Amino acid sequence: MVVPPTPENLERAARIIRSGGLVAFPTETVYGLGANALDATAAAKIFAAKERPSFDPLIVHVSDREMLQQVVREVPAMAEKLMARFWPGPLTLVLPRSERVPGIVTSGLPTVAVRMPAHPVALELIRRAGMPIAAPSANPFGYLSPTRAEHVERMLGERVDLILDGGRTTYGVESTIVLLAERPVLLRYGAITVEALEEVVGSLELQVGETQKPLVPGQLPQHYAPRTPIRIAPPESIPQEARKQSGYLAFRDVPKGFKVVKVLSPTGNMLEAAAHLFEALHQLDRLGLEAIYAEPVPEEGLGRAIMDRLRRASSTSQTSSEP
Ligand code: TXA
Ligand code: MG
Repeated sequence: MVVPPTPENLERAARIIRSGGLVAFPTETVYGLGANALDATAAAKIFAAKERPSFDPLIVHVSDREMLQQVVREVPAMAEKLMARFWPGPLTLVLPRSERVPGIVTSGLPTVAVRMPAHPVALELIRRAGMPIAAPSANPFGYLSPTRAEHVERMLGERVDLILDGGRTTYGVESTIVLLAERPVLLRYGAITVEALEEVVGSLELQVGETQKPLVPGQLPQHYAPRTPIRIAPPESIPQEARKQSGYLAFRDVPKGFKVVKVLSPTGNMLEAAAHLFEALHQLDRLGLEAIYAEPVPEEGLGRAIMDRLRRASSTSQTSSEP
């Protein structure tokens, strides 16, 4: 059931979390599918609803520093610096985990991924629940992330106790994930750019490539994928004949001859493009097209997160789960 985030509905949602249920809620990045992070049974429901493999750990969302202390064992100096600059916000830090976090949340890892979201509804829900909320993106495993409440309803509707509707999310791509080891390591491109992070940490080691044993499923070669086959290709490379039954996901200009075209940002603004990315893919994926072609965007700033998602969506090494 989709409801607006009125104080009554927030209270109801908080009660559901406290009693071990599932609530989908907006964050500044994408919608999350939340449960009590300190309750293994509640967290298990997330895996069931998403059909998510258990080797895929969850991100724990906190509303204040006190709550952070409940889930981590220590906060390294570099993490302090990053939190001071980017929290609340779309930066997830992987830190040593406290004993209180059940193994199912971290897939048995000695670390836990945490972030403090910069969204009033998310923060208010966590505060009212009075406990950290574990929440992956509210989509079936491997499928496109949700940037609107209706995406969640369509994909997971019956499996969620309540969906809080906060309108379209601001960033439209997930949080950036940084592991604080001896040196900071980037695990996932996301809403905070590498350039912005490097202003704080100096140089950043990158582990976002395709690895044999992915550290995080966002690193799986295929992820974030629509059901329609998708390829990254500049418009001029696509023959007229192929255009007729295909959709084009354009960065700023509208190419000719395609059955349907979605433009990410008519002004070429990367922030706007990221915000529209998953929404445009959700729309194109529902049209029964033969193929979706996507225009490459410049790989700087948020452009790296966009290209990362497009590459994984277009990888064919594995079939994705369907909604
Ligand atoms: O923006 C976001 O981060 C959204 C919103 C809801 O906060 N959440 C999100 O969660 O994208 P999810 O589950 O789709 O992606 C979380 C990623 C997963 O790929 C997971 O494997 C990784 O974070 N992760 C979680 N715990 C980890 C850990 N201890 N070490 C390394 N990676 C971890
Ligand atoms: Mg996800």
